[in-house]
Amino acid sequence: MSDGSEDAAQTLWHGRFEDGPDEALLAFTESLSFDIRLAACDVRASKVHVRGLARVGLLTDDERDAILDALTTTGEELTGGGFAAEPSDEDVHTAIERRVTELAGPAGGKLHTGRSRNDQIATAFRLWVRDAVDHLAGRILDLQAMLLDRARQAGDAYLPGYTHLQRAQPVPLAHHLAAHAWAFGRDVDRLLDARRRIDVSPLGAGALAGSSLPLDPAGNGAELGFGAVFENSLDVTSDRDFVAETLFALSLLGVHLSRMGEEVVLWSSSEFGFLTLDDTFATGSSMMPQKKNPDVAELTRGKSGRLIGHLTGLLTTLKGLPLAYNRDLQEDKEALFDAVDQVDLALSAFGGMVATATFEIDAMAAAADDQTALATDLAESLVESGMPFREAHAVVGALVRQALAGTVTLAEAVAASPDFAGLTIRAGAAGGAELGVASLFEPGAALARRNSPGGAGTAPVAAQLDRLADRIAADRARLAEASGPAGG
Ligand code: ARG
Repeated sequence: MSDGSEDAAQTLWHGRFEDGPDEALLAFTESLSFDIRLAACDVRASKVHVRGLARVGLLTDDERDAILDALTTTGEELTGGGFAAEPSDEDVHTAIERRVTELAGPAGGKLHTGRSRNDQIATAFRLWVRDAVDHLAGRILDLQAMLLDRARQAGDAYLPGYTHLQRAQPVPLAHHLAAHAWAFGRDVDRLLDARRRIDVSPLGAGALAGSSLPLDPAGNGAELGFGAVFENSLDVTSDRDFVAETLFALSLLGVHLSRMGEEVVLWSSSEFGFLTLDDTFATGSSMMPQKKNPDVAELTRGKSGRLIGHLTGLLTTLKGLPLAYNRDLQEDKEALFDAVDQVDLALSAFGGMVATATFEIDAMAAAADDQTALATDLAESLVESGMPFREAHAVVGALVRQALAGTVTLAEAVAASPDFAGLTIRAGAAGGAELGVASLFEPGAALARRNSPGGAGTAPVAAQLDRLADRIAADRARLAEASGPAGG
């Protein structure tokens, strides 16, 4: 099976082996087809490693410069598409070292001094994931800012708030949109928090045990802009927590996008009619001419399953591994790359869909003006006049039952009720005008009276939107500080 011939792939370990690797082994174990995306990060880390070797006297200045030049050329070939892969280029690290050795001559053979692919892959991958996290955190902040804009544009528009998907109480549209924006804010927070644990340099950990050579992990880590350096070589060469955490943060972001997607699907249905998708973010049917479909929302919902799958897959891969590096760890990359790509695509399409959709605020108001949605507010007006809440709940419940029987409306039942006789309510904030309880049935009146902080009333929502704007600005500053020149 092994071809063992002269031009067989020359592996990094050929000295120990009589025969070269079988084709099937190469096909099964190669990762260049996907880890080529790490080329720029690997070249960057390799340059820092080479300068570190020269600093401690393991390379002459000439050797250092020859390898650095070769690394630059190899990096350009790899990222510019001009790289000719060899069968022996098992992964991006092997490919880079092979090409550097071709270009730099004998000095190239010193590139791997004091280094293993095990600390090398961990270093390059952490650099890549750190950049990806910064990129996606910025994109989520843009999504939040768009939702905040739409919330401000919504003004006094309101819709039914739901629990159990049953109409519950009217809420401002701005409050509903901001609710999603706050959830996305937690996603940003989670990514920035995970970033601290991504931001640890493994360079200098070797295969598993460090090295007898006088390496300088702290200096190299600082030069790569890492915030910290590994404490334990066994730990850092086997640690993929940073991948799992990132996959979790992206999965939960996916869940948040998915549930908002589900609402877009519902709201754009004829049954709800709360939202009309722009033609540019809707699809049609190949057979049914009348259809306008929310495919972006559905696919966002669908892809959340794929993100959760990547997280579950990696956790399952990790759970049985003894220390330290095991080849299983190579499975971390396709999952993470795909999760990052899918989230990036989803943020563009989903953000565009929400930014361009039209909210049908008349339909929302008509649904929210369903009188029974005011039952809680009616009960609270009795409470304000001194009635225990449980009693008020029962009084209003009985009136709702009358209204549902169909002979009177809830407003008429309230007007005829002795419990409400002579009752007046505040029109807005405490101390404001007192009106008859019938005024509660005016469209939107309940929202003006709902003043508890953080609640779905006109005044608290206005304050909340200001805080949301502050929060977005603060998180943008955190991100800029973490990813700025000092943060790498
Ligand atoms: N391509 C491998 C990975 O992605 C790194 C190589 C380490 N391989 C090894 N046999 N020690 O994990």
